[in-house]
Amino acid sequence: METGTQIFLSQWVVHRDPRWWPEPDRFRPERWLEPGERPRFAWFPFGGGPRVCIGNHFAEMEGVTILAVLAQRLRFDPVDGEPPLELAPSITLRPKRAVPVRVSRR
Ligand code: HEM
Repeated sequence: METGTQIFLSQWVVHRDPRWWPEPDRFRPERWLEPGERPRFAWFPFGGGPRVCIGNHFAEMEGVTILAVLAQRLRFDPVDGEPPLELAPSITLRPKRAVPVRVSRR
């Protein structure tokens, strides 16, 4: 390998590897509660090593806090007839188009 060669490590691929993540395409948040050994970098949304994301703890806390507050008070139901979700993978993974949902009080 030559000096200056760029190497890309794909979170998309590693985070869907069934060796570490059974049923990788299913939304199954309880997987985080299940015991099991995984290699350290089987999950690396914030990179790693000396250039690891400096906002990682903040981002995790913010994400969980927002989700917990919203999910306790509101319901989000998909709107019928929408085309399947298309993704726009970038530094973060996001939907290509807006995702309409019906929001109601719990
Ligand atoms: C879900 C949210 C976030 C994700 C997925 C994310 C992901 C990443 C990734 C993959 C890197 C590159 C790490 C590497 O090169 O190995 C990075 C770097 C960085 N992130 Fe984040 N990040 C998030 C939120 C934040 C927040 C909230 C901040 C600041 C408050 C932040 C500040 C930075 C900075 C400054 C770097 C560059 C670190 C360096 O090169 O030394 N990030 N982030």
